[in-house]
Amino acid sequence: MSSGTNDIHLNDPQALYRRWEESQWSPFTIDLSTDRRHWLEMTGDDQRLIFFILSSLMVAEERITTKFSGLVGAYGTEEEATFLATQQVDEARHMQFYARFQDEVIASRDTITAHVDRARAQVSDGFRQIFDVELVEAHRRLIAEPGSLAAKARFVTLYHLILEATLGLTTFKFTTDYLSREDLLPGFVQGYSKIHHDETRHIGYGVWFLRETVRSEPGIADVIRQTLRDLLPSVVASLEPPGADAGRDFDAIGASGEAISAFALGGLTQRADIIGVPLSTL
Ligand SMILES: [Fe+2]
Ligand SMILES: [Fe+2]
Repeated sequence: MSSGTNDIHLNDPQALYRRWEESQWSPFTIDLSTDRRHWLEMTGDDQRLIFFILSSLMVAEERITTKFSGLVGAYGTEEEATFLATQQVDEARHMQFYARFQDEVIASRDTITAHVDRARAQVSDGFRQIFDVELVEAHRRLIAEPGSLAAKARFVTLYHLILEATLGLTTFKFTTDYLSREDLLPGFVQGYSKIHHDETRHIGYGVWFLRETVRSEPGIADVIRQTLRDLLPSVVASLEPPGADAGRDFDAIGASGEAISAFALGGLTQRADIIGVPLSTL
């Protein structure tokens, strides 16, 4: 059987590593002075919603940075080990950028732990289930069983396919569309765009790994399906802002809930087809 999407050329870890070498940036050279002024001038629902998104990003990058090393230890080839080491650095860099944004724009200078603790008051229950329960457990299992292809496939499905691709790309698109349209927080948009560029490499690795693994070990498709079945309810829940009934709705940034869900599900559907585990087979 020939399938169009399944034949798409994917960059392997060596190609992704070469791209990383050409894509270095510093979270400390982006000018945030205009952002500080904009933040102090923002009010109402849009400020509350941007605050919620910034808080979610702060917590997400802390989780994503500190719950990754197990995958570096579960590498296959040396090329894959090299790429995964670069992703570990990227995630720490992203966390540093969001912490600097807290330091200089929306809060005051503090440790990353203090910023994360404060931001945690904002995140939703669906978000907590994914980042504090599912991610922590998948990472713990991968550290316990680094040679288990099933543990690695569950981790990559959760981390690269759900967190980075489905939730991450969706948050990036609707947040930066709004901020760019309104000409708000230009330093944040610049840093977040650099982060997004890094994320496309990470997602590229995840799709490559899952497709190659399903091709060589077809039984792993069941692990991917089960992981998606386990996570999809929390994904849907975490795409909704907490307290939507209290007026904190995504309408404040000009995006309907339907448009957000359609974008998230559309991307996941496309990637699942490439991997060889279509969502219709869940
Ligand atoms: Fe990241
Ligand atoms: Fe990432």
